Amino acid sequence: MCGIVGYIGKEQAAPILLDGLARLEYRGYDSAGVAVYSERAESLSVHKAKGRLQVLSDMLQGGAALDGTVGIGHTRWATHGAPSDVNSHPQVSRSGKIAVVHNGIIENYAELKAFLMDKGVPFTSDTDTEVVAQLIDYFYEGDILQAVVRVLHRIQGAYALGIICADAPDQLIAVRKDSPLILGYGEGCSFLASDVTAIIKHTRDVGYMEDGEVAVLTRDGIQCYNHLMQPIQKEISHVDWEIDAAEKGGYEHFMFKEIMEQPEAMRRAIFPRIKDGEVYFEDFGLTKEYIRAIRKIYIVACGSSYHVGMVGKYNLERLTRKPVEVALASEFRYMDPIVDENTLVVVISQSGETLDTMAALREAKRLGAKVLSIVNVVGSSIARESDVVLYTWAGPEIAVATTKAYSTQMAVIDLLALYFARVLGTIGEEEYRAVLEEMLRLPGKIEAVLADRDDIQYFASQYFNHNSVFFIGRNVDYALGLEGSLKLKEISYIHSEAYASGELKHGTISLIEDGTLVVALGTYSKLFEKAMSNVVEVKSRGADVLALTTERHKAEMAKTANAVMTIPDTHDLLLPSLGVVPLQLFAYYVALMRGCDIDKPRNLAKSVTVE
Ligand code: M6R
Repeated sequence: MCGIVGYIGKEQAAPILLDGLARLEYRGYDSAGVAVYSERAESLSVHKAKGRLQVLSDMLQGGAALDGTVGIGHTRWATHGAPSDVNSHPQVSRSGKIAVVHNGIIENYAELKAFLMDKGVPFTSDTDTEVVAQLIDYFYEGDILQAVVRVLHRIQGAYALGIICADAPDQLIAVRKDSPLILGYGEGCSFLASDVTAIIKHTRDVGYMEDGEVAVLTRDGIQCYNHLMQPIQKEISHVDWEIDAAEKGGYEHFMFKEIMEQPEAMRRAIFPRIKDGEVYFEDFGLTKEYIRAIRKIYIVACGSSYHVGMVGKYNLERLTRKPVEVALASEFRYMDPIVDENTLVVVISQSGETLDTMAALREAKRLGAKVLSIVNVVGSSIARESDVVLYTWAGPEIAVATTKAYSTQMAVIDLLALYFARVLGTIGEEEYRAVLEEMLRLPGKIEAVLADRDDIQYFASQYFNHNSVFFIGRNVDYALGLEGSLKLKEISYIHSEAYASGELKHGTISLIEDGTLVVALGTYSKLFEKAMSNVVEVKSRGADVLALTTERHKAEMAKTANAVMTIPDTHDLLLPSLGVVPLQLFAYYVALMRGCDIDKPRNLAKSVTVE
């Protein structure tokens, strides 16, 4: 999704803006631009280019070609108007005095545009953002903040805005509603960004803007206002991760780096939460009485986080015997969900900013439910609006395709299931101990899977030129297949589908023919025989079968499948935590062999902040 960076200070703004935008590239974009106030020319200097940020950077000699110490920058992910130079941000008002960068959607832009055109305001782009720039200009009578506030009363939708005005070069204005925006506090300078990675090189002291807030950034500090324009004091948080956590560190791709970081990420997610043989959550806001009174659990999320929810359903129901429903966040708020004060809604999100998930969270709260979120990005909107937050501690995840966030989300939901089961008395002492001990072994076992990656690379070399792939499995293997299939299709562009194996014969099996690749997941011991039957079923119709199973079943599987990927044996509940790793590696190596842009797959964004 779009990325915003803003700077006001004593140094040249353009190189700082371009560097910040480069760190936001992972979010996904199709064009980029910057606007800087030039003291020499006493006007705004605006430069934009469709395509890679490098095009803009080359055009501006890395920023050296632009003079000025205040500016805003933007990477755009087109929503209104095709990707083009003219539709890129910053959008500038007709007087040339006001420049705006925007993340989100102005829902009533058409009506406002008609109003302005009626007043003779000419438009140059197809964007909703230009309406904001032109409207500020329309209301501008010498006080930029006042004009912005008047516009805020008229626009509807979701927006994070960065605004500069040629008449007020000592300030930069920021506004947030339903789209993330972070303030950075430096020495003699202030920053604005869509996320911390863009500015961490310059400052670790950040403030998270809340909905409806307005901030005025100057060289001497930042003044924030609430939605009534009353001055407020912002809490400053200190970011404690290192900048190299968001850099490639010698790896060719962020995705591979993040796959390899999983053992460490899992240690961070699990180890501090097992104390004296018990699951322990710091600052856990749910009482035992509340947990006992839960009648239903809803898990709500999008994409891979939803797939974690699918596994979470199996594990939570099995351990707690409470009914669990899993819903896509984009559907949840429109399906009139049956939710009350005895429903716990668990929302899962790496970014903590996914708009659909955020909307589902708000809907759940409106209906009286408590919301527990499993989130990676500290201080994100979802984390802040939840009743209880369990952080995954995976560290910054830059690649669009999630890997370590998925694994750590899974670890956290498994710990939650164990904690609930302990409170409810639905798990025996022996099983509780066995699962906890296995959880502590998971990072080491993931290391073992990673060490065997050459085998997976070899399998990828055998199958990378297939055009269509089916992932099949039952129970948790089906949920795992959904993730394996998504990983493959999103980065390699191979058409891929995941099926519950038993469903194949109800239609899809007609697509299996000579040479169709079927990735058959058979890690779940209880259903291994059934998994084998499905392997035989597709093989007899000509499929090439790449199977995934545990050490225990490898020999048996190898009798029928064309190739077998293996994971160490572990407790049934934890199989997907190991099983996902070969599937991530397989997708990665296939995409690599197909020459795909692995960290930035086409049409995708890391953080989806529009509906
Ligand atoms: O940040 P979130 O976990 O809320 O994001 C949800 C999905 O957009 C995300 O999991 C997406 O499916 C992944 N990029 C897939 O790898």
